[in-house]
Amino acid sequence: MHKTPAHIVPRSPPPLALYQFRNSKLLRLTPRVIMDGFGTDSEGRQFKNAEEMWREQVGDADPLKKSQWYSDGVGYWQGVEATVDGVLGGYAHVNEPDIKGSEAFFNTILAEKFPDISTGRRLVALDCGSGIGRVSKNLLIRYFNEVDLLEPVSHFLDAARINLAPENLMVTEDYKAVNFFCVPLQEFTPEPKRYDVIWVQWCIGHLSDDDFVSFFKRAKVKRSYLKKL
Ligand SMILES: C[S@@+](CC[C@H](N)C(=O)[O-])C[C@H]1O[C@@H](n2cnc3c(N)ncnc32)[C@H](O)[C@@H]1O
Repeated sequence: MHKTPAHIVPRSPPPLALYQFRNSKLLRLTPRVIMDGFGTDSEGRQFKNAEEMWREQVGDADPLKKSQWYSDGVGYWQGVEATVDGVLGGYAHVNEPDIKGSEAFFNTILAEKFPDISTGRRLVALDCGSGIGRVSKNLLIRYFNEVDLLEPVSHFLDAARINLAPENLMVTEDYKAVNFFCVPLQEFTPEPKRYDVIWVQWCIGHLSDDDFVSFFKRAKVKRSYLKKL
């Protein structure tokens, strides 16, 4: 039987769960496997640790396997409708608490990292794996003068352009979406020193561990803070 290469479909809740397709079935991996311990998927299949899981999914140094992993991931989202329910995997009702939780988190770092915000300092954010711009529209655009969006699925980015058009925003013209990058995160290098915050919500699980680390290194520019969910 053909084995469908697995890929991650982040859904919510629970956060940080890994989902994959195998033989056309959606499987859920326990969050523990993402950390450093033993884990199982919903078919009872066991992984000793995250490394073992990744070795099976993307191989050790097999570019074909890895590129299949990424094309399956993006391919999944290409078949999903460009709505809040779509990008939240059928859990549209968690949108509001999810945004509230993200804002509470952001407020814990805001005063500490940007003490000069009240003096009119302009802030710029990058929303990675932005989908239809749900987080940009409901949260980031209220704090950042410029928001760039990165999203590899073109119909999501088209929806984001509409959702973040000035006439559809409840903010002054000092706050706007500027760039819409239609590229995957593993191929993106942020413009040095442009971003005060690089925001990654419900998306990082799409990257293999090595690409995740590599992105962190490329993103580590002065004054940048990363949020990962
Ligand atoms: C669960 S949705 C979350 C969307 C958005 N962050 C939100 O919270 O509404 C996951 C998003 O990650 C995007 N994605 C998938 N693979 C990606 C990759 N390799 N690089 C960047 N984004 C990716 C999907 O297209 C999708 O828009």
